[in-house]
Amino acid sequence: MHREPVRHIGPEALAEQGRFAGLVRGHADRPRTYHIVTYGCQMNAHDSETLAGTLSDIGLTQAPQREEADLVLFNTCCIRDNAERKALGNITWLKEIKKRRPHMLIGVCGCMMQQRGMAETVLKQYPFVDIAFGTGSLYRLPEYLYLAVEEKRRVIDVSREESTIAEGLPVLRESPFKAYINIMYGCNNYCAYCIVPYVRGRERSRRAEDILHEAEALVADGVQEITLLGQNVNSYGNDAGEISFPELLRRLDQTGIPRLRFMTSHPKDLSDELVAEYARSRSLAPHLHLPVQSGSDRILAAMNRRYDVETYLSRVDKLRAARPDIGLTTDLIVAFPGETEEDFEQSMRLVERVRYDSAFTFIYSPRTGTKAADLPGQVAPEVASQRIERLIALQEGITKEVLHGLRGQQMGILVEGTSARRQTQMTGKCGRNISVNFTGGHEGLIGHIVPVNITGAGSNTLRGEYIKEEQTT
Ligand code: 5AD
Ligand code: SF4
Repeated sequence: MHREPVRHIGPEALAEQGRFAGLVRGHADRPRTYHIVTYGCQMNAHDSETLAGTLSDIGLTQAPQREEADLVLFNTCCIRDNAERKALGNITWLKEIKKRRPHMLIGVCGCMMQQRGMAETVLKQYPFVDIAFGTGSLYRLPEYLYLAVEEKRRVIDVSREESTIAEGLPVLRESPFKAYINIMYGCNNYCAYCIVPYVRGRERSRRAEDILHEAEALVADGVQEITLLGQNVNSYGNDAGEISFPELLRRLDQTGIPRLRFMTSHPKDLSDELVAEYARSRSLAPHLHLPVQSGSDRILAAMNRRYDVETYLSRVDKLRAARPDIGLTTDLIVAFPGETEEDFEQSMRLVERVRYDSAFTFIYSPRTGTKAADLPGQVAPEVASQRIERLIALQEGITKEVLHGLRGQQMGILVEGTSARRQTQMTGKCGRNISVNFTGGHEGLIGHIVPVNITGAGSNTLRGEYIKEEQTT
C-alpha cells in the first residue's frame, strides 16, 4: 500500500495563515460574529474548538444563535445516515435566513466533506453555501475566509491532506477545566460497517513531545481533566516509532493532571500493559469505553472486528480485577446484515453479563463504499427497531441497578456548575463519567474535584452530598 509520509505542519504554514488572518481582520466586509454547529463525536467537538480558536484569533466573537451570526460553520458527521440528513436539513433551513441577511457566510466542513464528490454535490445543490472544506485542512480557515470575503469566491478545498498533522493551532475550549487532546488521527481497522477509515484516512500519531507539551500547558492553565482522543488509541505510536500508549499514559501521569481519560479503545488491541495502568496510574479515571458492537462471534467476524466474545469478556474481567471500581461503557450495533434472532440474543446476553454503566446503541446504517453495504441479508427496518428497543430497555434496567449499587460510596466529583433542575444543587461528573447532582456545595467549587457521598440514584444520574473539608480531615 502506498503511504505518504506524515507531514507536520508547523510555524511556516501557520505564519502564512496568520497573514490571511490579518487581511481578513482589516477588511471592511469581514464577518464579525460566528456560530459553529457541531455533529458527531468528540473528535469533531474538538475540531470545532480549534475552528473557534482560529476565528477568535481573527477577531470574530461567538453569536449564541446561528441566525444572528455573520459566519455559520457546520462541522458535519457521516457515521450514520441520520447524522447526514440532520446536517443537510439544518443547512437548508439557513437558506431562508440568508435571503434576509445576504452578507451571511455559510461554511460546511467535517467528515461529510471528506466523502468522495460530496463537497462538489453540496456546493451544487446548496448554492447558498460559500465554503466547503475537509478535516485535514482546518488550519487553512483564515485563507478560505480571505478568498470568500476579498475575492467573493466560493471556496472548496477537500485536498485530502490526509497525511498532515498541524501543530500549534489555537483552541478555544468549551470548558475552562476540561480539555481534549488529539493523540492520533485516522484509522486502519476497516470494520466492515464503518466509513471512518475512508474519510479520516490512515492512522497517524502525533509526536509524544507535542502531546506532553500541550498537556503541561493545560495543567498550568488549571485544567482538571484531559480526554485523549483517537479512533483507536491503543495503536498510538505504531505508525511513527513513537512510545507506546501505556507509556504515554505514564508520562502524562507525571504532568500532574488530576484526571485523565481516553477514547476510543479497540478491544482487539487492549493490552495487559494498558490494563496494568488501571491498577497503578494516579490520574487515570475508573472508566473505559470499550465498544463491543455485537455479542455474536459470527457477526463480529463479519464486521471484521478481529476478536471474539470470549476474548472480549476475558479483557473485561482483567480490567475489573485491576480496578474493581471501573465503569464500562460500550457501543452496540443491531441489525448488521445477516444478524439473526439468535445473534441478537447473544448481544443481549453479553450486555447482561458485562453490566455496562451505559451503552450507545445504533441500528446498522449502510454507508456507501464500505464492505458491509454490499452484504446480503439486510435486516428489515421493523425488526431492527424492535431489536434496538429491547436492547435499550435491557440496558436501562441495568444502568439503574448499577447506579443504585453506587449508593454509599464516596467519590471525587469534578464540579461543572449548578444543576439545571435545582439551582440550589451543584452538578458534576464522577470518575466513571456519570453525572452527579449534590447538595451542600456552592459555586466556589466549580472547576474543582471535590469529595461527595453518593446518597441516591435516578435513571441516569446520581445524587449526593458534598463532604465539607472539615469532615474529611
Ligand atoms: N451503522 C451503525 N452504527 C455505526 N457505527 C459506526 N458505523 C456505523 C454504521 N454504519 C457506530 C459504532 C461505532 C460508533 C461510533 O458508531 O458502534 O463504535
Ligand atoms: Fe470505524 Fe472500526 Fe476504525 Fe472504530 S476501529 S473508527 S469502528 S473502522
